[in-house]
Amino acid sequence: MFMTHRNSRLLRILRQNRWKTTSCSNDFTILGIETSCDDTGCAVIDGAGNVLGESLYSQNAIHVRYGGVNPFIAHELHREHIETAVTEALSTAKIKIKDIDAVAVTVKPGLLLSLQVGVQYAKYICMEYNKPIIPVHHMEAHALVARIYHNLPFPFIVLLISGGHCLLCLVQDVNQFFLLGESLDNAPGEILDKVARRMKLKNIKEYSQLAGGKAVEEAAKKANNSQQFQFPLPLNRNRDCNFSFSGLKDSLVRKLIKKEKEHGITGDCLIPEYNDLCASFQIALAEHLGHRLERAIIFCEEKNLINPNNKNIVVSGGVACNDFIFKSMQFVAGKSGYSCYRPPPKVCTDNGIMIAWNGVEKLKKSYQIQYDLPLSEIDPIAPLGKSLIHEVKCANIPVKVTKLTNLL
Ligand code: KG4
Ligand code: ZN
Repeated sequence: MFMTHRNSRLLRILRQNRWKTTSCSNDFTILGIETSCDDTGCAVIDGAGNVLGESLYSQNAIHVRYGGVNPFIAHELHREHIETAVTEALSTAKIKIKDIDAVAVTVKPGLLLSLQVGVQYAKYICMEYNKPIIPVHHMEAHALVARIYHNLPFPFIVLLISGGHCLLCLVQDVNQFFLLGESLDNAPGEILDKVARRMKLKNIKEYSQLAGGKAVEEAAKKANNSQQFQFPLPLNRNRDCNFSFSGLKDSLVRKLIKKEKEHGITGDCLIPEYNDLCASFQIALAEHLGHRLERAIIFCEEKNLINPNNKNIVVSGGVACNDFIFKSMQFVAGKSGYSCYRPPPKVCTDNGIMIAWNGVEKLKKSYQIQYDLPLSEIDPIAPLGKSLIHEVKCANIPVKVTKLTNLL
C-alpha cells in the first residue's frame, strides 16, 4: 500500500491550482522517469518547466550491434542504470528525493520488461518517501513537451514520428487526444534504421555510432543529385491520414540491389550513389508525411476542431530531429497558415524531461495524481486517445501531394 497520510504540501498545491482560474502555482518539483524502450532517462523539473536536473543513459550504441532493440538486453541495462540515473538527475538539480512533490513515470506503451523497471523503481521511491505517483503515456508526453518551449494553447495538431510510432493527432487538453492517423506497418525511424543498415552506412566511420535516421540525414546533405531516385507515394489513393513505410523501404532495397549489381559491389562496400539514395529517400518520406499532415489540417478545419486564431502544429519524436523533415513539415503547415514547432533535438528523442513535464501538466489540472500504481496499469500497446480515423476516411478529402524536392 502507498501513503496512509497524504502529502500535505502537494494537497496545498492542488487546492491552489484548482481555485486559480488565470494562473497556476509553479512552486513544485516533479521527478520524471522514462524506461519504455532503450533509454533510461530521468529529469527533475519545476512547475514552470525549468529543467533543474537530468540524466540519460542511452543504449543505442549497444543495440545497433544487434540490428535493433533486444528487449532482454534493454531490461538488463535499465536495471543497471536506473538508480544512477535517478541519483544523477536529483544531484544535478541539487534536490533531495524527500523534497520532490511527485514522481511521474512512463507506464505505456513500450517494451513490457523495460516499462517494468521504471515503474517498479518509481513505486519504490514513492513508497519509501511517501510521494504521489503520476502514470504517463509515452506518446502523450512526446506530444505535450513542446509546451515547455513554445506558447502552444490547446487545441493543436501533433505529428509524432519516432522509432516505434507514427501518429497524427489532435490534442484537445492534457488528457484529451484524438487520433487522426497511424502507421499501418512500420514507424519511420524503424524504416530509417533498417535502410541505414541495409545501405551499410555504419561502415563509414563518421556514421558508425549514429542512429540510422541521423546517418541518413547526414549522408543526404552530401548528395549531388537528390532527384536521381524516384519513389512511389504510399497510400496515394486512400483518403485518410494513415501512413505506410514498408513499400518505400522495399523500393529502396530494389534500387540498392540494382546498383550493387551494376557496380559489382559485395561485402562491406557501399554503392557510390549512397548519398543521393539517402536524399531521394528522405524526400519521399517527407512528402508522404506532408501529404497526410495536409489532410489532417483540412479535416480539423472542416470539423471546426482548430481555433482559427491559434493554428499550431507540433512535430515530435526522434525523427523530428531531422532538419529536412521538420523544414518540410513547416513548409506544408505554412501553406495553410499554420506555425510548426518542435522541442529541442534532445527532447524530441526519448528523455525524462517529457515525462516530468507530463507530470507537471497533470498535477496542474489534478489529473491522475495517484497514491498507488498497480503493475496491471503497465500496458505495452496502449493506443493514443480516441480514434477519429474512421471519421477522417468518411470525410473523403482529396489532397494533392506537395513536392518537397526544392527544400533540400
Ligand atoms: O523517439 P525515439 O528516441 O524513440 C522511440 O520512441 O522510438 O526515436 C528514435 C528514432 C530512431 O529510429 C532514429 O533513427 C530516429 O529516431 N532519429 C532520426 C534522427 N535522429 C534520430 N531520424 C531522422 N533524422 C534524425 N536526425
Ligand atoms: Zn519515444
